[in-house]
Amino acid sequence: MGLLIRNGEVVNAGERFMADVRVDGGVITDLAGRLEPRTGDETVDAAGQLVLPGFIDPHVHMELPFMGTVSADDFEVGGASGAAGGTTCFMDFCIPAPGESMLTALAAWRRKSAKAAVDHTYHMAITSWGDNSADEMRAVVQEHGITSFKVFMAYKGAIMVDDAALYCVMREAAKLGAVVTVHAENGDAVWHLQRELLAKGCTGPEFHPVSRPSLVEGEATGRALAMARLHGATAYIVHMTCRESVRALERAKLAGQRCYGETCPQYLLLDDSVFDQPDFGGSAFVMSPPIRPAHLGHHHALWSGLSNRMLDSVGTDHCPFTHEQKKAGVGDFTKIPNGAAGIEDRLLLLYTHGVRGGHFDLQRLVELGSAAPARIFGLAKKGAIAVGMDADIVLLDPEGERALSARTHHSNADRSVFEGFPVRGRIARTISGGRTVWDGSRLTTTRGAGRFIARKPSHFAPDREARA
Ligand code: URP
Ligand code: ZN
Ligand code: ZN
Repeated sequence: MGLLIRNGEVVNAGERFMADVRVDGGVITDLAGRLEPRTGDETVDAAGQLVLPGFIDPHVHMELPFMGTVSADDFEVGGASGAAGGTTCFMDFCIPAPGESMLTALAAWRRKSAKAAVDHTYHMAITSWGDNSADEMRAVVQEHGITSFKVFMAYKGAIMVDDAALYCVMREAAKLGAVVTVHAENGDAVWHLQRELLAKGCTGPEFHPVSRPSLVEGEATGRALAMARLHGATAYIVHMTCRESVRALERAKLAGQRCYGETCPQYLLLDDSVFDQPDFGGSAFVMSPPIRPAHLGHHHALWSGLSNRMLDSVGTDHCPFTHEQKKAGVGDFTKIPNGAAGIEDRLLLLYTHGVRGGHFDLQRLVELGSAAPARIFGLAKKGAIAVGMDADIVLLDPEGERALSARTHHSNADRSVFEGFPVRGRIARTISGGRTVWDGSRLTTTRGAGRFIARKPSHFAPDREARA
């Protein structure tokens, strides 16, 4: 049975127009000013609504073993939470333990993500460099369709890599035409700052941001970009939070380097006053890099980066932990599991504060949340409403207003870092592969219905071109 969406306004990154959209067999089959229903088709009236390509979250961590625990949403729950918020595809990070084979970790991730209700893929993290790493990187790209990698320049003693490994990853990724995503913070400096704070008796969650000042993020961003430039690799800096880091990206871009930057709603909308809370309440906001102070220009740098196109995408870094899990860090903030929920809130927060807040228009919203992640990471059938594309579609009703809350979201997180935040508009329907997975008030997801999406390298590889 097909689906016909009538009377809506289609918004793509490069155009917007009134059109009916026909869906059949999981793909968009027709797009025209007026389409007639066929016998057996379901018809949806989208009058007054915006018809957007399904949002793609380029940065999430479902059931991730991390800091002595496991993030609280599995692939089914986390993906469903995203669907309720208009996200139809997410990109997780497959993270081998240091020394573990990437291919072993990949097999474990494929088992875990088989229950996802929406399409997904992963970036492959490299947490140590060994004799087999270059060959494994090649297999990951060429045999498994994972065309992006991840390095953590922080989390010393756990998954952090040193500069030697960073150098090798950039070198091999450039040969493969793969993207290297980077968590950019100087992990050695953070480690020393943490020890110094703890030695002075500064143990509460409010000291987490003190231990990770913006300078350590800016420095690592510049270093990662320099390593990428050295080899002609494509770098994508994840979860950027601050002025220093945006400036480093800007310098690289203006020098002609191919590189990308991502930020997240929490860094655009929250400031470090969130740590002024009794009863370990600040622990909900412990994530890395940290939420920044309001008065140093970080928020302005991020918002203007989104509007002037120095920043390229908005992900969420969805990585929820319950209050009980966060309590592992009572008496030592360095042991609080880092991360928070966000996959469900991104579209409406960006619509409310980005579009209606006057920072950018609807087409740029689609670019940041769907078209850019699709293009950068080679999700060729996603990111636009067009004939032949996957039928991943969101109907956004611009009317309505509500406050976000952990009481109403679909994540297992028992707190929301956006508790009480007003949002305008409403996700009237989310369609994933032609099936309705959110009907405006209820999830209608099917466990396991999401596909793992294999990708092809989409980036210029200097070696490959030279040989051609
Ligand atoms: O605090 C965070 N961001 N937790 C998830 C892991 C990461 O660094 O992305
Ligand atoms: Zn990170
Ligand atoms: Zn992350």
